[in-house]
Amino acid sequence: MNTGIKRYRDSQISMAFKTLVALSALAMAVVAAPSHTVTCSKGRTASNAVCCKWFEVLDDINGEDGLFDGGECGEETHESLRLTFHDAIGFSQFKPANVGGGGADGSIMAHAEIETNFHANNGVDEIVEAQRPIAIKHGVSFGDFIQFAGAVGVSNCVGGPRLQFFAGRANFSFPAPDKTVPEPSDSVNAILKRMGEAGFSANEVVDLLASHSVAAQDHVDPTINGSPFDSTPSTFDAQFFVETLLKGTAFPGNGPNVGEVKSPLAGEFRLQSDFAIARDPRTACEWQSFVDNHDLMVSRFEKAMAKLSTLGQNTHFLTDCSEVIPVPKKAKSKVATLPAGKTKKDIEASCKHSPFPSLKTDPGPTTSVPPVPPS
Ligand code: HEM
Repeated sequence: MNTGIKRYRDSQISMAFKTLVALSALAMAVVAAPSHTVTCSKGRTASNAVCCKWFEVLDDINGEDGLFDGGECGEETHESLRLTFHDAIGFSQFKPANVGGGGADGSIMAHAEIETNFHANNGVDEIVEAQRPIAIKHGVSFGDFIQFAGAVGVSNCVGGPRLQFFAGRANFSFPAPDKTVPEPSDSVNAILKRMGEAGFSANEVVDLLASHSVAAQDHVDPTINGSPFDSTPSTFDAQFFVETLLKGTAFPGNGPNVGEVKSPLAGEFRLQSDFAIARDPRTACEWQSFVDNHDLMVSRFEKAMAKLSTLGQNTHFLTDCSEVIPVPKKAKSKVATLPAGKTKKDIEASCKHSPFPSLKTDPGPTTSVPPVPPS
């Protein structure tokens, strides 16, 4: 290793150690403090005083001029949810956490000049730069802010989950190594292997992919910015799990692009990775199980996200501030539908253990999907 880099690395390790000692002491004091309800701003209550400041952050990001434009489930929400994954997944349970890749530690923001240049992180620089000044303004760590923004953002989506939020991550990290974030062109084997290193089972990978229910792409095919992965990108519903199983018929833009396969609806975008995971025998039954069970999809997503958002962290040193996360609006329907113009014959059912459930078809002309508008 070049001596300059080594010296930098050694000084970072020494700083990290000092920060860790100071934080552990602080965390122990926090953990030891008796739990009692405190009143925060606007009469809101929290079980721990350290959570009060997160109400201020909430008011800021969900405010009319805030990051989420008055509490929308729009582009910034989608990007913030994606960022929770891209920060956290730089982690392996088979390595000491301080040798690069500390998980949900804010490294993607602290070392943006390195991590946002990784191919799989294409496009995350925008949301990193939008979030950074807000984290600094409120004096919270990058790792905390990224997970908080993702949790608040997805709570703005109708039918969304109410994610757990733990506060207290150190504002110190090493850059995560490259090649830890899965790519849409990866095989199911490669994705399950990488996610397995971070501690996720095949089913949990499916559970996390409920996030693609409120998602769109900008960079796989840059000619069709904002083309969504399902017909309802502002609603956290199971349409994504149905629509990925429909026969692909055409490319919505100038495809095929790397990581793209044909989609079933005009304007809708399909990632090769979603297509393959939906049909793989290891993941197909978990995938299908969400089609007519919204509550199951939400509860599995909440559980998997609790794990993702604290990867590399010792939760005993964090404070549970989940009460600050808003309660999302309830979904109108608990069962997905077939888009207008499609029938059960268009479904490529892939679970060998149970038949594909009967779903109603939406009335009207064949569904086509408009792009998510930029904010
Ligand atoms: C497991 C493998 C995964 C692959 C291969 C993958 C790949 C992708 C790709 C290529 C995009 C489009 C990015 C763009 O062009 O702008 C995307 C978007 C997105 N992903 Fe994933 N993803 C995966 C898992 C996840 C997970 C676990 C989460 C969250 C927990 C997530 C959340 C999102 C969201 C919310 C978007 C939409 C971003 C936007 O609309 O701006 N993804 N994903």
